[in-house]
Amino acid sequence: MSKAKPHLSHGRLRHRSKMAKPRQAALFSEFAGHDDAPKPVNVASVPQRSPFRYPGGKTWFVPTFRAWMKHQKSKPRLLIEPFAGGGIISLTAVFEDLVGSAVMVELDEDIAAVWQTVVDGGAAWLAKRILEFELTRETVVQEISTAPPSTQERAFQTILKNRTLHGGILAEGSGFVKSGEGGKGITSRWYPTTLAKRFENLDAVRDRIDFRCEDGLQVIDEYAVASDVVCFIDPPYTAGGKKAGKRLYRHYQLDHERLFAACENIRGEFLMTYDNAVEVRNLARKHGFEMRLIPMNNTHHATLEELVIGKNLQWMDQFRAVREPEVDYVAGSSD
Ligand SMILES: C[S@@+](CC[C@H](N)C(=O)[O-])C[C@H]1O[C@@H](n2cnc3c(N)ncnc32)[C@H](O)[C@@H]1O
Repeated sequence: MSKAKPHLSHGRLRHRSKMAKPRQAALFSEFAGHDDAPKPVNVASVPQRSPFRYPGGKTWFVPTFRAWMKHQKSKPRLLIEPFAGGGIISLTAVFEDLVGSAVMVELDEDIAAVWQTVVDGGAAWLAKRILEFELTRETVVQEISTAPPSTQERAFQTILKNRTLHGGILAEGSGFVKSGEGGKGITSRWYPTTLAKRFENLDAVRDRIDFRCEDGLQVIDEYAVASDVVCFIDPPYTAGGKKAGKRLYRHYQLDHERLFAACENIRGEFLMTYDNAVEVRNLARKHGFEMRLIPMNNTHHATLEELVIGKNLQWMDQFRAVREPEVDYVAGSSD
């Protein structure tokens, strides 16, 4: 089998998989297998510190995040999380003292209201509000149909919606949980005591968290020159027109090329997580980053693989690598 190197100076590169080889063989060549590759993380083994049940949440990534922090030369001064959502990675980093402090960034103003309330010292108020609320379908409808008079009330409404809407999805068109756990319907994800405790715990670390309701891309640019900063990047999965992120988040549109270009300028370390899509792998290759495949269980308990992308992923050697696919040089092709 010839593995001729492509000429990069002119013409176009064409993936051999599209040309002559059977699909199976091409896939085999792109992903380097490990028979003893790690199994998906059991999320029940990870402390749940976020008050959110977040679509696309990264609780399952926590053990890998800890391993990444262990491989840093010294404790990073700061962790930047430009697409924070439920924020489990920042919260873990701060609670477990893996970094000095964290900057969480999120564009969704409902989610932002929760984080803003926490960093402004309103966690105890939120905990009390949760404990005192008598949750029924009627009280929820009444509560969330009134315009919130303050950021704190908006934060409470967000938690209420997140815990009663199907899948915790706050994007347009989401309906209430139907049967839920044990047929408990709308109350099936409402654990007032647990939620209140999580907010009380958050109050203890709030002085080590900065929150910004801004564009994550700009915040990456802002910190790019600082070498003692690490960046955990978990964008909406919409590269190549993928729909998943669109259904889950209000802010799903993202210039993925711009994100990858911004990552090239990061002086410190960064890690990105993405869906294992061909468009994403191509972007990572174009920008010279490494990739590993990491198994996770989705909400339907099916095992999928997500991509981890970074500058140097040797510390992830136990995970399957993604190699350069074989390519053919096609002179003068313009398709
Ligand atoms: C995949 S989710 C992050 C989930 C998070 N890692 C967790 O564990 O909960 C992506 C998040 O990015 C937010 N987002 C989308 N575009 C953004 C932008 N330009 N700046 C900041 N946040 C953005 C979305 O609202 C969504 O909450």
